[in-house]
Amino acid sequence: MRVLLTGGAGYIGSHTALVLLERGHEVVVLDDFSNSSREAVRRVEELTGKTIPVIEADLADREVATAALADVAFDSVVHFAGLKAVGESVAQPTRYYRVNIDSTLVLLDLMRERGVDKLVFSSSATVYGDPEYVPQDEAHPVGVGLTNPYGWSKFMNEQIIRDAQVAWPELGAVLLRYFNPVGAHPSGRIGEDPSGIPNNLMPFIAQVAVGKREHLSVFGDTYNTPDGTGVRDYIHVMDLAEGHVAALERIAAGVTTYNLGSGTGSSVLEVVRAFGEAAGREIPYVIAPARGGDVAETVANPTKANVELEWQTTRTLADACRDSWAWQSANPQGYTA
Ligand code: NAD
Ligand code: UD1
Repeated sequence: MRVLLTGGAGYIGSHTALVLLERGHEVVVLDDFSNSSREAVRRVEELTGKTIPVIEADLADREVATAALADVAFDSVVHFAGLKAVGESVAQPTRYYRVNIDSTLVLLDLMRERGVDKLVFSSSATVYGDPEYVPQDEAHPVGVGLTNPYGWSKFMNEQIIRDAQVAWPELGAVLLRYFNPVGAHPSGRIGEDPSGIPNNLMPFIAQVAVGKREHLSVFGDTYNTPDGTGVRDYIHVMDLAEGHVAALERIAAGVTTYNLGSGTGSSVLEVVRAFGEAAGREIPYVIAPARGGDVAETVANPTKANVELEWQTTRTLADACRDSWAWQSANPQGYTA
């Protein structure tokens, strides 16, 4: 396959590009580099020995994206491009809706015009809102109690893709609901490179471990969980990348939804301990008030993906901490160093 990766220079996109190339597929990256670096793509080329055509364009801009892709051949798409910072989405809702919704609308029209009928979309476990039960399967209600425009944009994108498929029955679309992606390629050459202060737990801990930040604030220790801190299903980004390849290779007409998670929950304090062991140093932390919009616990039921995609996670939280540390310690300034 020749796969167009929108947002392919980003954290999950770069790891997926690497796994696709290693499986013998070709990839093309379209990215506006608003939250990523060309260096990530260069390093994927270096790790795989393959060349990746890169198109710099804003996918949400119909004219720009259409012109940029005019002479580019591809037969399937993984759509990662979008903005993902939850707090920022509350402060800048129109920007988040414009980028996250328009990019999907432009892409769907472009695919239909070109007769490209295979699409994998980056959705999120955030569409489940405050869980009614855990572990959550794909039948869990969605769109109830969402607390921010980022989450709504994922929910809306799922609906837009379903509606597009009704009008275009040949379209095969897979909505992948990621749980919490963490870790890096074991080489330490590519990884997560958040700009500014990391919002997410593992990149924050990694920056504490490398000495960039003094301590971690643990957001709440009175949740109804075994140690009182929030529980999440952390999935190694390499497992996640492999899940995309499995989904792409099995795509059929229609819309299918899969959870990509490990099925195991870990608390904030468990992640702190696991990272401390991987890095061989103590991670200082303080207990802070709970963060608005957070839920006590989310854990995937990944059975549907395990069975239908013949995919399952093979890496542990300890592996993710080791690989995240390999990346962070070798690249303390991310790709800009
Ligand atoms: P990322 O920010 O590293 O990657 C997104 C990429 O899209 C970046 O390279 C960015 O420059 C690019 N981009 C943004 N707007 C664009 C536009 N208008 N045109 C072209 N490119 C554009 O984020 P990620 O963690 O790799 O996430 C990838 C996808 O997965 C996103 O859609 C995100 O919402 C979703 N997701 C991420 C997580 C997570 O925790 N990382 C969890 C659930 C879902
Ligand atoms: C967040 C987003 C979610 C998004 C997901 C993946 C919110 C409210 N939710 O989920 O929409 O899909 O990222 O990108 O932002 N924690 C700390 N200290 C920190 C950072 C986090 O204690 O400095 C805790 C959190 O309270 C939570 C856990 O660590 O219990 C994981 O947090 P995080 O990595 O931000 O992911 P989510 O909150 O699950």
